[in-house]
Amino acid sequence: MDNTSLTSPAATHDNGRPQPRLVELPKVNDPRGNLTFIESEQHVPFTVKRNYWIYDVPSGMWRDGHAFKDQHEFIVALSGSFDVVVNMGDGERTFHLARPQIGLYVPNMTWRYMDNFSTNSVALVLSSTMYDDADYITDMDEFKRLINE
Ligand code: TYD
Repeated sequence: MDNTSLTSPAATHDNGRPQPRLVELPKVNDPRGNLTFIESEQHVPFTVKRNYWIYDVPSGMWRDGHAFKDQHEFIVALSGSFDVVVNMGDGERTFHLARPQIGLYVPNMTWRYMDNFSTNSVALVLSSTMYDDADYITDMDEFKRLINE
């Protein structure tokens, strides 16, 4: 799937786990400039503990794949566009993010990488956890083993 529409997959995967899905955020249309907001646990299905953003991405660069044991994320293209490629262990799906009022919820135990950053793109990431190196799964074989446990 490659879209920015909200024809997102069902909230729950066949295996009963939540799965990545697009979420339309509130948008206050205003001739002075539009405004969108995110409230913890209201527009994202977790308590937001941390925010970070990725910017100044050189042309042709991608962000390596990994999954998180516990961390849930919500990713928004604040500016420009990029792809988020997700895999719950049964194949890849590509979400093209290009609108600042649409975000992608990425549950824990989802392998993901980011690619195709446009010039001057800014990726905002809301996270359910503080930064913890031990939460990262950076080996695809380990990810597949854990997802099948
Ligand atoms: P990383 O999450 O590995 O980035 P990506 O997923 O895009 O590959 O983070 C890159 C570096 O930044 C790593 O050395 C850890 C550091 N970092 C923090 O210190 N705090 C954070 O909240 C994040 C996201 C990263």
